[in-house]
Amino acid sequence: MTLPNLNHYDSIQLTPEGQLKHFLTIEGLHEALLNEILDTAESFVDMSAQQVKKVPLLRGKTVANLFFEASTRTLSTFELAAKRLSADVLNLNISTSSTSKGETLKDTLMTLRAMHCDMFVVRHSASGAAHFIAEHVTPDVAVINAGDGRHAHPTQAMLDMLTIRQHKGDFSKLKVAIVGDILHSRVARSQIHALRILGAEEIRVIAPQTLLPRHIEAMGVKVFNEMSRGLRDVDVVIMLRLQKERMQTALLPSESEFYKLFGLTEAKLAYAKPDAIIMHPGPINRGVEIESSVADGPRSVILQQVTNGIAVRMAVMSMAMSGQLKQHQLRSEAAGA
Ligand code: NCD
Repeated sequence: MTLPNLNHYDSIQLTPEGQLKHFLTIEGLHEALLNEILDTAESFVDMSAQQVKKVPLLRGKTVANLFFEASTRTLSTFELAAKRLSADVLNLNISTSSTSKGETLKDTLMTLRAMHCDMFVVRHSASGAAHFIAEHVTPDVAVINAGDGRHAHPTQAMLDMLTIRQHKGDFSKLKVAIVGDILHSRVARSQIHALRILGAEEIRVIAPQTLLPRHIEAMGVKVFNEMSRGLRDVDVVIMLRLQKERMQTALLPSESEFYKLFGLTEAKLAYAKPDAIIMHPGPINRGVEIESSVADGPRSVILQQVTNGIAVRMAVMSMAMSGQLKQHQLRSEAAGA
């Protein structure tokens, strides 16, 4: 499989009118569009609290969840989101061998094309997989990236932004710290883009040097190698999981050493602002990156992130479908004219 040059694919996800038609990456999107996603999601949060949790926005549409990598919360919240939009949902857990990824992906795509699905939600271990699929689907089919390699996890970042906005309001006054395995984290990359676009005052990454991508400063973040300095006065602390499955070599002396230096304990949390919120995309490793009492404590919003995941995914799916429908209408009008 030849991966597209990611920098040149920002425009693939928007219609010429600037509407979303795929959701592949946060990079290159405008603040107004991110706010539209957040506002639309907020209306679905209210709806989820009601007795009847369904709207007909995707009635008659088929959503296929193509998960080439394991997932619990992302897959189940995408499934619930699609069902609450009244879509029919197909979940495909497709395992993939590293040698035949390209072929497998292409073959799977051809098969799915023949089934006339309207939307693909894709998770894949290769960076660029969702872009690749978006380029090869028939027009009218929307592709949503549910995590590609180390590259992007845009719906996770947007559910995190929604959670931050619910607690803190205006982004322009916020200092946000992202802590841990930044190197392997598609979540961190998408969060950094989102926070920058939404105008956060300061974005920090805190990690040992071995878990930082080279030239991360170029993304507009401040780098810290110690929790005591990095957490000072922050409003939001985002902890990340140590992604051991992506570590080919030993990047750390030991888990216990990592916990000692970078694990979020009550003691280290004292460096942050007293009203700082604690986030984690999950799955959490208690005693590796976070102390149980912090994960379950009053400042943790980890479960609220999961709840918000449904609303954000509903927002993105309905916006992408409406962008596709608009495009379809324009194409039909042009063909008829
Ligand atoms: C994240 C992912 O898959 O990138 N998890 C998630 O989507 N909830 C982060 C992780 O696996 O650590």
